[in-house]
Amino acid sequence: MSSPLFQSAKGVHDILPNDHLYFSYIKKVVRHHCRRAGYRRITTPHFEDAGVFHRSIGESSDIVEKEMFTFQSKGKKPKNYALKPEGTAGVVRAYLEHGMQQMPKPVELYYIEPHFRYDRPQKGRYRQFHQFGFEVIGESDPAIDAQVIYLAHKINQDLGIADMVTLQLNTIGSIEDRERYKEDLINYYTGKERSLCEDCKRRMKTNPLRLLDCKEEDCQILASMAPKFDSVMSDESKERFKLLKEYLNELEVPFELNTQLVRGLDYYSHTVFEFWSSSEGAQNAIGGGGRYDGLIELMGGEPTPAIGFAGGMERVMAYMKEAGIHPANKDAVAIFVAQLGLIAKRKSLALLNKLRDKGINTVGAIGKDSMKAQMGLADRINARYSLILGEVEVKEGMIILRDMKKGSQETIPIEGIVDKMVELCGENALKNKQLWEE
Ligand code: HAM
Repeated sequence: MSSPLFQSAKGVHDILPNDHLYFSYIKKVVRHHCRRAGYRRITTPHFEDAGVFHRSIGESSDIVEKEMFTFQSKGKKPKNYALKPEGTAGVVRAYLEHGMQQMPKPVELYYIEPHFRYDRPQKGRYRQFHQFGFEVIGESDPAIDAQVIYLAHKINQDLGIADMVTLQLNTIGSIEDRERYKEDLINYYTGKERSLCEDCKRRMKTNPLRLLDCKEEDCQILASMAPKFDSVMSDESKERFKLLKEYLNELEVPFELNTQLVRGLDYYSHTVFEFWSSSEGAQNAIGGGGRYDGLIELMGGEPTPAIGFAGGMERVMAYMKEAGIHPANKDAVAIFVAQLGLIAKRKSLALLNKLRDKGINTVGAIGKDSMKAQMGLADRINARYSLILGEVEVKEGMIILRDMKKGSQETIPIEGIVDKMVELCGENALKNKQLWEE
């Protein structure tokens, strides 16, 4: 076998047909639940003015500092663009650009798209990955937070992975609460700098809150003893969080309180949450989100509360596989049409298309003339039935119907064969289900 000249770039992957079964299933579940809850779909461009991300995600965030794929446009006045590393910033930009402020509130939007981060590639961490996400813009009631979290939880349940993840929940309060807390943190960390990793030393100056969710062991030990946010949080923020917890209990969504969860994007306020794998913890969060009440104003709009969530499809798929979940194979071939001789080949062409028009997945090996090669292919693709047409059959107006599962066959009139196959494959074929699993 000759070796290929090229491979996919580091950290990016082809989605091969078997993985598409999972991707299609995830998309279907997300679409279904979002539509039911009144969300409408939005797609923002794969790249934006880099400023959209600098301003929203924050200059001191890992994403903006290290993980953006940026490039310049051509022309006399080149612009700086970035491949989108996440979805919220683009949605907010689109919300403002298209005057969605005029729409009835809340504005509920969802997306299913590729995103790009210059991350260090490892298991579950890629440079191109896919997220499904949803945003609710224009309401501040904590009941909305509970509904957004419930939606994410419900999707996990339907995908069969809810038992493998735990919901980590925290509040990072209002901007004022955070300013007070940052001071407390700086006081606590001052004098302990030598025990911090290089990133955290920097974070002390740029974004002290991020010191709390560093994954380095020494930093985690220090973080566990840091002053708690509770001591500076306003009564209003506490009340919001109390209500959210009550709503989640009411909705029977289990959660774990995690005072160290702050999220890596600067736009959050109040509610923050992530779904962590029960075995791998924060390393492989399958999704996360939170409230971003200040972002729309920061991007040039009127002060408008908002909240959202995004899940990582590659990670969700990995957990579905671990849980032994096999989405129905819509690509399964129900009928294989084999032919021998020119007249039979001519007849089989029309037959193939008629069966496909009836919604039955049908494959033929038009380019292969040997019957042995054709039947070998029918076996390899796991066809449920084969229809075999030779010159003798064509002359006699007959066709051979072979049940590939039972290994039996019969010769029957070709007249009415399409209706007979519809009957045999039944609704299952029309729904393109894997027949032999039924
Ligand atoms: P995020 O936590 O940065 O949040 O990303 C959400 C999810 O995307 C992660 O939990 C993870 O499953 C997946 N993900 C992130 N980076 C990678 C990667 N390099 N490789 C594979 N999967 C990855 C956001 O993006 C926010 N925009 C979520 C949000 C929506 N907040 C409010 N609204």
